[in-house]
Amino acid sequence: METDISKLVIPRHVALILDGNGRWAKKRGLPRTAGHKQGCVTVEKTVEDAARLGIDYLTVYGFSTENWKRSVEEVGALMQLFRYYLKRLLKIARVNNVRVKMIGDRTRFDQDIIEGIDRLESETADNTGMTFVIAVNYGGRDEIRRAVKQMMRDAKSGILDPDAVTEDTVASYLDTAGIPDPDLLIRTSGEIRLSNYLLWQLAYSEIYITDCLWPDFNREELVKAIAQYNTRERRFGGAK
Ligand code: IPE
Ligand code: IPE
Ligand code: MG
Repeated sequence: METDISKLVIPRHVALILDGNGRWAKKRGLPRTAGHKQGCVTVEKTVEDAARLGIDYLTVYGFSTENWKRSVEEVGALMQLFRYYLKRLLKIARVNNVRVKMIGDRTRFDQDIIEGIDRLESETADNTGMTFVIAVNYGGRDEIRRAVKQMMRDAKSGILDPDAVTEDTVASYLDTAGIPDPDLLIRTSGEIRLSNYLLWQLAYSEIYITDCLWPDFNREELVKAIAQYNTRERRFGGAK
């Protein structure tokens, strides 16, 4: 039975760990890269579905700081896909009035990719619809390390007073500065772990794990996760 969406509270920020591209391909006797290709098609559809559902922020984990450990072939194929989607996203973002932002350490990418990221961010900056955040070469620990480094530099140069550091100060040094914390985290493919994703930001997010492999994820799965989120009681440490 189709869920009545009008009765659901739509989470403001949904974070996604898109996992299972490799398993999806293996099940079909295809190379892992075929799973990544199909996974990109699913990302594109999910951006449109999320925007239409009224989600304000969608953050997806595309490539972790640990994913460089994969074979040269797989990393190379992922970079090629990334190149292609940087261009394609310009159009998708325009059509859907979506603002795109990348988090993670982009300095490790090839120059043309860095330029593609900069262009995508600047050309979509004035779009007023959903914000689509892509985590690439992203690791929660690396993000915190980079933030600490900058805070220490600023303290040393006198811009930042160590005694005045609040949680908001720390948040303002993270890649996600200005973006509210995720309300809902969805991970596909059944693994129950964070894999170094948004370690600071997920402190009070509701977690939803589905066995669905990422390339098979669709609007129905997204609505299911939101419906499950609607049954949760968020307490933030308080008591009733
Ligand atoms: C997620 O799918 C995509 C990336 C991490 C880039 P995987 O490639 O991790 O797929 P599995 O986990 O091997 O099935
Ligand atoms: C997490 O998936 C990273 C991304 C989805 C980009 P992984 O497949 O890399 O995570 P582990 O290795 O199973 O923890
Ligand atoms: Mg995986």
